[in-house]
Amino acid sequence: MCGIVGYAGRREAEPILVGGLRRLEYRGYDSAGLVTVTGPGAAHLRKRSGRLAALVEHLRDRPAPGCLGISHTRWATHGPATDANAHPHLSACGRVAVVHNGVIENYDALKRHLIADGVAFHSDTDTEVIAHLVGRNFDGDLLEAVRRTLPLLKGTYGLAVVSPDDPDTVVGARLGSPLVLGVGAGEHFLASDPGALVGYTQDVVYLQDHQVCRITADDWDIFDRELSKVTASVHQIEWAEEDTDKGGFEHHMLKEIHEQPETLESAMRGRLSDAEASAHFGGLNVDPQQLRRAKRIILTACGTSYHAAQVGEYLIEEFAQIPVEVEYASEFRYRNPPIDHDTVVIAISQSGETADTLAAVRESKRKGHLTLAVCNVVGSSIARESDGGIYLHAGPEIGVASTKAFTSQVLTLAMLALHLGRLRHLSALQGARMIAEMRALPDLIRRTLACDADARRVAEKYAGCTSFLYLGRQYLYPVALEGALKLKEISYAHAEGYPAAEMKHGPIALIDPNTPSVFLALKGAIHEKAMSNLEEVKARRGPVIAVATAGDEVVAAKADDVLFVPDVPDYLQPLVAVVPLQLLAYHVARIRGCDVDKPRNLAKSVTVE
Ligand code: G6P
Repeated sequence: MCGIVGYAGRREAEPILVGGLRRLEYRGYDSAGLVTVTGPGAAHLRKRSGRLAALVEHLRDRPAPGCLGISHTRWATHGPATDANAHPHLSACGRVAVVHNGVIENYDALKRHLIADGVAFHSDTDTEVIAHLVGRNFDGDLLEAVRRTLPLLKGTYGLAVVSPDDPDTVVGARLGSPLVLGVGAGEHFLASDPGALVGYTQDVVYLQDHQVCRITADDWDIFDRELSKVTASVHQIEWAEEDTDKGGFEHHMLKEIHEQPETLESAMRGRLSDAEASAHFGGLNVDPQQLRRAKRIILTACGTSYHAAQVGEYLIEEFAQIPVEVEYASEFRYRNPPIDHDTVVIAISQSGETADTLAAVRESKRKGHLTLAVCNVVGSSIARESDGGIYLHAGPEIGVASTKAFTSQVLTLAMLALHLGRLRHLSALQGARMIAEMRALPDLIRRTLACDADARRVAEKYAGCTSFLYLGRQYLYPVALEGALKLKEISYAHAEGYPAAEMKHGPIALIDPNTPSVFLALKGAIHEKAMSNLEEVKARRGPVIAVATAGDEVVAAKADDVLFVPDVPDYLQPLVAVVPLQLLAYHVARIRGCDVDKPRNLAKSVTVE
């Protein structure tokens, strides 16, 4: 959600903090701030509501000196996006400064108690109570002050804390919100996301819940909650600096859409075995016998990852013949469904930090189920806490609207369906055919991307419409949901996805000449049925934008506009069909003047409930 960067070293902290925040701005962009420390009594606080650019502008007039500091980019939870609510927050007399990611659930009670004790508050945030509490517990040793404060907090936090009266130290703490420590030479870093540290260091330590850390220019340590030192291993970040820039594209989202041929190749690399006509996953960590015994699979996720899970349901049921249920993680974590012990739970998450999905993983593990994860971010909380899993290897996804992660998730689930199928009844011949079909995909996606110009033309025609329907059947139904989500996320137009035939039971009332229907009408098993649904829309004078199989002149003749995609087997259609929908949403948003990479109110990684 919010982004945190901390630094202790010998270089000027301000440009390093701002550089890190720039990489994290997609996590929250309501306000930004930093504080640097130069010695006893000397803390330099700078914060501004709005985008990071506003803080940078402010720093031009009032640079923050010093080689140690903490910074933050905010996604508002408590209180609107104002300068006062921007982090860092200070304790009385500025003895302690805090940045925080997460939610302090008992902040109200703590605040009332502090106010009764004469403490003056300057913001609406829950974070400010942490600053005051650490300040009151501080007697020159910042680490100890944080240790004394943490047991008072109920909720979640990733914290970074500094004090001008302990001027060589940054203290971090984690419970439920991610925090990593970056190890450099003569400098150390803290960040809420390893992506912030790319270009500064490749060596990171992932903090666990209830751990506290201290960095100075020369040293780093990890402690448990009693401040006993903990040995921790240093991991390598696998992302390079160029992965986090726009690579010549106008937006991260457009770059990420165009990266899909390569990200799909990465997802398959080393995983498809011709000899066994199957797929293999190094990190799955599960005895094949256990997977063979699985009687049921629950896929759980949020947002776009939930739509990938819905495609996964069709894939696993078709190829592995195992019943699958798809649950919103936010529902699954609080429900108490009867689950027998041969159920495997698979969490799907690009970031690996989504609070609800992480909670679903914990709940599933608590109940003793084999719990696997499909994640993109290596070392993320969900990846670490699951029994095993599969990484997407899609590289950093920075555009808030997820694109390349979706296609990598779907392909990974197709490979998993193949793996599970081959453990059961799927023949070597069928397996070999699937492998060949999957291997052909990157080139087919390259060809699909050629519809960009047509997607822009269609976007220009319909960008003024306020409501859209997205319709698809079977494998294309979740794609309809995903297409509608993409459009509403970044262009703020109302869009609803429906199974095309279900449209008759209500949404058909919405159809009029100003409500376009985006119809997923690819050739396949139930093409003719989908065509009848398309006719129903046309009969009510609703404009139809069809996504159709290349060369399908019948659909082209019936639809008002058509976006062609290559012919692929039904089970791979979600991968080609989603591309024109991503491009359509992108161009509509651009034409409407929306901030494509940072849509209003959203955040890339939702680390609060
Ligand atoms: C947020 C993002 C979505 C994303 C969802 C799940 O809502 O804006 O793009 O699909 O979280 O995120 P995850 O990282 O768990 O896939």
